Amino acid sequence: MQRYKIAVIAGDGIGPEVIAEGVKVLKKVAELDGGFEFEFTEFPWGCEYYLENGEMMPKNGIEILSKVDAIFLGAVGAPGVPDHISLWDLLLTIRKSFDQYVNLRPVKLLKGAPCPLKNVSESDVDMVFIRENSEGEYAGSGSWLFKNKPNEVVIQDGVFSRMGCERIIRYAYELAKKEHKTLTSISKANALNYSMVFWDQIFEEIGKEYPEVKTYSYLVDAASMFMIKDPKRFQVVVTSNLFGDILTDLGAAIAGGMGLAAGANINPERKFPSMFEPIHGSAPDIAGQGKANPLATVWSASQLLDFFGYTDWGKVLIDCIEEVLCEGKVLTADLGGINSTCEVGDEIIRKIENKRC
Ligand code: NAD
Ligand code: IPM
Ligand code: MN
Repeated sequence: MQRYKIAVIAGDGIGPEVIAEGVKVLKKVAELDGGFEFEFTEFPWGCEYYLENGEMMPKNGIEILSKVDAIFLGAVGAPGVPDHISLWDLLLTIRKSFDQYVNLRPVKLLKGAPCPLKNVSESDVDMVFIRENSEGEYAGSGSWLFKNKPNEVVIQDGVFSRMGCERIIRYAYELAKKEHKTLTSISKANALNYSMVFWDQIFEEIGKEYPEVKTYSYLVDAASMFMIKDPKRFQVVVTSNLFGDILTDLGAAIAGGMGLAAGANINPERKFPSMFEPIHGSAPDIAGQGKANPLATVWSASQLLDFFGYTDWGKVLIDCIEEVLCEGKVLTADLGGINSTCEVGDEIIRKIENKRC
């Protein structure tokens, strides 16, 4: 029997509510399959832990996590702890320590999901964002000079290494080639005259190795406009850390909302564990009320199954989400329903039982 060790970091706010449904779904899949099982270990790390212990996770947290096969994370961040501390000392530390340099975020309008755009069908919103996840604008490099003095200065560096740009752009070309899709690079070389000129140059250089891949290159301002006006232009998209962060929330908005947006933080070499999470935050405005939509977390569970090679099961979960959306009988409030997080999770479980691989 194949056994996978999964670290569960439910985190803050709605994190524990949605992750409970994700774990339930993964357990059900393993039970029905019978050929593999998950060993879940829960870690109570996050803002509450910080308020008690003065740190977001223990000093040997990364060492502990290095022994698992994957990490399943809810959300991090709570009022009362500065966001730059809670996120840098947990989520971003994990992504960086484990060199999860690919952030793979589908922006796909599932059947039955609401879309705020006019005259758009499912096939028009079918993209996958490959967001650089290890450096760029989120490298954490900079300085704060003359703090609290009249001549105070802050500098936040964007760090774009050749290795960092090449590997993410190559990953995107490989995906586009494998799936016979177009590849769009989103950058901003007209204003960012070092980092993005370099990015564009590397996009062209690597492109020479992939003559079969049709490419486009957009400036980020125009790209955001086209995502709304003409989303079918985009298939595989590769972009920097900051642009990918912003554009995938925009993507969520056109593909059913934050409650339906998932992301995988991947270390493609599998030297370290990868991490699967909904892309939304801890949503303090609805936390603790059973209102959170767990479907983004179920989608990230599907990405986890894909990652371990159980792509049939990954697809089953997406099919189940689509069925739940199309029927429209059991939905959370963000999708116009009246049901709780747990009821939506239970409905997914019922659908899985009817489908088994
Ligand atoms: P958010 O994603 O938490 O919430 C934005 C809006 O979307 C809110 O109105 C919220 O209610 C709604 N929403 C989000 N997820 C939902 C779900 N599953 N179901 C229904 N509605 C949902 O973003 P924010 O408010 O900017 O950030 C809140 C906190 O989360 C901050 O501390 C922030 O730093 C943190 N954050 C963490 C992560 C992460 O852990 N991956 C990601 C983004 C933000
Ligand atoms: C996301 C989040 C994080 C990011 C934050 C919370 C650091 O917004 O996963 O999209 O910017 O990567
Ligand atoms: Mn984000």
